[in-house]
Amino acid sequence: MIKIVEVGARDGLQNEKSILSTDDKFQFISLLCDAGLRAIEVTSFVKAPAIPQMADSVELYTKVKNELGDRGVAFPCLVPNMKGYETAKNLGVKEIALFTATSDSFTKKNINASVDESFDRMKEVADAAKRDGMLVRGYVSTAFGCPYEGTMDVKKLISVTKRLFELGVYEVSVGDTIGVATPMQVRSYIRALKSEFPIGKIAMHLHDTRGMAPTNIFVSLEEGITTFDSSAGGLGGCPYAKGATGNVATEDVWYLLNSQGLETGIDIKKLSEASQFILGRVNRQTESKFLRAYLNT
Ligand code: HMG
Ligand code: MG
Repeated sequence: MIKIVEVGARDGLQNEKSILSTDDKFQFISLLCDAGLRAIEVTSFVKAPAIPQMADSVELYTKVKNELGDRGVAFPCLVPNMKGYETAKNLGVKEIALFTATSDSFTKKNINASVDESFDRMKEVADAAKRDGMLVRGYVSTAFGCPYEGTMDVKKLISVTKRLFELGVYEVSVGDTIGVATPMQVRSYIRALKSEFPIGKIAMHLHDTRGMAPTNIFVSLEEGITTFDSSAGGLGGCPYAKGATGNVATEDVWYLLNSQGLETGIDIKKLSEASQFILGRVNRQTESKFLRAYLNT
């Protein structure tokens, strides 16, 4: 069984200029649950002017918890600092995701901190989460390349990943934030990770900017990765990463995995309905080649 972490409601929407209603976001998440996704990132508890689309995070999480809380689905939320953590804790969030990067230039733009400073903030949050019994996932962005610093050395990825595990995260999601990674680079970076950490604790978070994400996932599978982040319909991007476009589409990941006989628990018809719903709301065509073909045949 391969684990898919559906990031459409968070990464997929955070770059969208038109602000959706909380009801639309909730409906999308509800459809994703119906489609069989069992880990769905709901929102981020960040500064509203930084990511205006996430300004309704408290209302949205509350609705999800109250109405979908009994569906056996994990609903992680991004937290950048103690302020976001307190909000998450007060809402009864069970899992948070901490995020940093290998590149100082990117973290400065994204969270107004250097990588080292981000670890000071995350340590406080991780310690509190440990005390409160909350699960913590970690993200490392710009793992392969940065829009401001170019190709990133694998040594930086190893060092940031190590520091995240030292904080107590249960898994590190390796982010190709601007979709520059190539199959050979992915293979060699995963091999370096494998020599330091258990492969089962590494996930891949690939944006499909240059069309390489499905191939990079194939290579990741060959190297033993079993958790992938993706977004329904292929929405996504980070407003603080110039050139970042959508996450790899969950439909494209499903097609690849299904062709390999790998189970995901996803009902593709229902997933396509969730994607069509949200694409209609943001008035976009899908980036997913599979979904386009599926809807046309
Ligand atoms: P800052 O301006 O340095 O924060 O922002 P500050 O501590 O100086 O506070 C300034 C104001 O923000 C204060 O309000 C705080 O209360 C408020 P004021 O007193 O001026 O009224 N504030 C907050 N409000 C709500 N929630 C909070 C919070 N913290 C402070 N948590 C900060 C620093 C980190 C807050 C800001 O830069 C921020 O929110 N950044 C979020 C950026 C983000 O969400 N980026 C996208 C997610 S990362 C991503 O997409 C990559 C990923 O997908 C993986 C990949 O693809 O590589 C995960
Ligand atoms: Mg992302």
